[in-house]
Amino acid sequence: MGYPSTSLFFIRSFTIILLSSCIIIDFDLCFSTVPSSSSSSSLEALRLEGHFTFENNEFAARDFGNRYHFHPLAVLHPKSVADIAETIKHVWRMGPGSGLTVTARGHGHSLQGQSQSQQGIIISMEALGGRELRVHTAGESPFVDVCAGELWITVLHETLKHGLAPKSWTDYLHITVGGTLSNAGISGQAFRHGPQISNVHQLEVVTGKGEVVNCSKEQNADLFHGVLGGLGQFGIITKARISLEPAPKMVKWIRVLYSDFFAFTRDQEKLISAEKTFDYIEGMVIKNRTGLLNNWRVSFDPQDPVHSKEFVSDGRTLYCLEVTKTFNPENSDTITQEIEGMLSQLSYIPSTLFMSEVSYVEFLDRVHTSEIILREKGLWDLPHPWLNLLIPRSKIHSFASHVFGNILTDTNNGPVLIYPVNKSKWDNRTSAVLPEEDVFYQVAFLYHANPTSNGTDGLEHILTQNQKILDFCEAAHLGVKQYLPHYVTQEQWRAHFGPRRWEAFVQRKSAYDPLSILAPGHRIFQKEISSS
Ligand SMILES: Cc1cc2nc3c(=O)[nH]c(=O)nc-3n(C[C@H](O)[C@H](O)[C@H](O)COP(=O)(O)OP(=O)(O)OC[C@H]3O[C@@H](n4cnc5c(N)ncnc54)[C@H](O)[C@@H]3O)c2cc1C
Ligand SMILES: *[C@@H]1O[C@H](CO)[C@@H](O)[C@H](O)[C@H]1NC(C)=O
Ligand SMILES: *[C@@H]1O[C@H](CO)[C@@H](O)[C@H](O)[C@H]1NC(C)=O
Ligand SMILES: *[C@@H]1O[C@H](CO)[C@@H](O)[C@H](O)[C@H]1NC(C)=O
Ligand SMILES: *[C@@H]1O[C@H](CO)[C@@H](O)[C@H](O)[C@H]1NC(C)=O
Ligand SMILES: *[C@@H]1O[C@H](CO)[C@@H](O)[C@H](O)[C@H]1NC(C)=O
Repeated sequence: MGYPSTSLFFIRSFTIILLSSCIIIDFDLCFSTVPSSSSSSSLEALRLEGHFTFENNEFAARDFGNRYHFHPLAVLHPKSVADIAETIKHVWRMGPGSGLTVTARGHGHSLQGQSQSQQGIIISMEALGGRELRVHTAGESPFVDVCAGELWITVLHETLKHGLAPKSWTDYLHITVGGTLSNAGISGQAFRHGPQISNVHQLEVVTGKGEVVNCSKEQNADLFHGVLGGLGQFGIITKARISLEPAPKMVKWIRVLYSDFFAFTRDQEKLISAEKTFDYIEGMVIKNRTGLLNNWRVSFDPQDPVHSKEFVSDGRTLYCLEVTKTFNPENSDTITQEIEGMLSQLSYIPSTLFMSEVSYVEFLDRVHTSEIILREKGLWDLPHPWLNLLIPRSKIHSFASHVFGNILTDTNNGPVLIYPVNKSKWDNRTSAVLPEEDVFYQVAFLYHANPTSNGTDGLEHILTQNQKILDFCEAAHLGVKQYLPHYVTQEQWRAHFGPRRWEAFVQRKSAYDPLSILAPGHRIFQKEISSS
């Protein structure tokens, strides 16, 4: 795969410069070619509460993927929603003659430059965090109003002060509300509560024309649904009202192993549709690993660590079912019985029950615990060639037998997650793109690459393997959709959405961001540089 897309991007930017310096544009505010110092001075002239920085913006030219580096013209550190609106309005008024774009940056945990912009304006959404986090406890359905630049971990800590917490999570909480709502936000709670985009009541959005709009299912419903899973294309989310529930205090955290993929998926599907079931359901593929538990999710501390270390996969492919049951200390006994009842329905390898007990916060923040350890070893800031796929239930067995059986040689480069989700908990009016079946599997290859290796842990090898997986899915017509999608051409995006949804997506773009000012890093739409 290499970096064809990177060079394409540079060629495009270059073309923009040529065009805008050759054509004499009769647009009254078109003093801005890209890049140019007059763009900078016009930004500096805006009256804002916050400020722009034009130097030391290297942080905005990197992301968690650590493969793409696009340098912005300026970074806005807003102090108010009005700052964001003023900035976008300014770019909007420059008209189609300016190549200037605007990209929201949450915590920059994108994988392929989606929150970056070559010579564009980056809005540092986190600058708006730390205030207006208002928990509403009254009534049957409590909620919290948060700034979209807030990290989910902050939302958790603030809501816990009221004995409440959001219902649907991602595996990692040091990412922003706006960043996950622009995708979907999927984790082991999604089978019950739906993704995070199914747990939002209301949003405040700044559109591509610089208008500040409140939206919900009742008010400006098309914009509301559009921005949820909308990849930042229709507006910048500035505030979100998130549904809450009473927070449990403790978690029983359980892992069991299977060697039979059929038994594994049968049990996963049984669990997500059962009336009485666990509160979180995920799974992992383990291939040719020694030391089963020393991976990314190292924080898992089984009751019997000796036993778990003894368990080596030596050549076999194993499937790890990971579930939790939340509880409060006063009903510890009944919960143990309930868990035993549920486990007795499953057909895992009996000797492989690993159980531990942690606080709710410890469980939800589990990946951060690993992050700290990996950072110490210098293993966090590596390239992350991730691949996230949504696979129709009816195709998961052909996918598994070819991909886990033939393409994947081992899972030593990072965890491979797999778990089913029921579409009935998703709203098909949002922009999120899903496979055509009621139940689909999220399969996530969460690799890190050794930047100096050309072996099986090197970037080239992993990218080639990812491409093999994608090629197989396409050739076998599995109806797979990418989650956290990455494409290079509009043709590929069109295929990703499918004709009907693509048309709706384009329509929303022309309604809310007609100049294609927002989030060019996805390369779905390119800002037109024209004189008319
Ligand atoms: C370690 C790790 C674990 C993860 N686990 C999960 C998981 O379990 N489930 C899951 O669903 N995802 C998961 N993700 C993916 C994650 O949800 C996305 O990468 C998300 O975009 C990261 O949020 P961010 O704040 O860093 O976004 P950024 O990278 O800053 O932005 C992502 C995109 O959203 C846009 N954007 C950001 N903020 C706004 C806003 N306020 N308004 C409009 N657009 C905005 C950006 O322009 C960009 O296009 C994980 C990522 C990492 C790194
Ligand atoms: C959006 O709603 C919030 C409260 O729900 C309100 O404070 C704010 O003024 C509204 N904004 C607009 C632009 O209507
Ligand atoms: C998915 O949800 C629908 C609607 O609630 C239900 O009819 C179906 O049985 C569910 N499927 C599974 C596998 O859980
Ligand atoms: C991995 O396991 C398979 C069997 O599933 C085996 O054929 C292969 O040689 C193993 N590869 C490595 C690198 O250990
Ligand atoms: C969404 O689902 C409803 C009912 O399930 C269906 O009638 C409608 O056509 C769907 N809309 C889209 C845009 O797919
Ligand atoms: C890795 O690179 C070295 C030096 O360029 C070369 O000798 C070696 O064959 C390469 N190994 C692989 C697996 O490609």
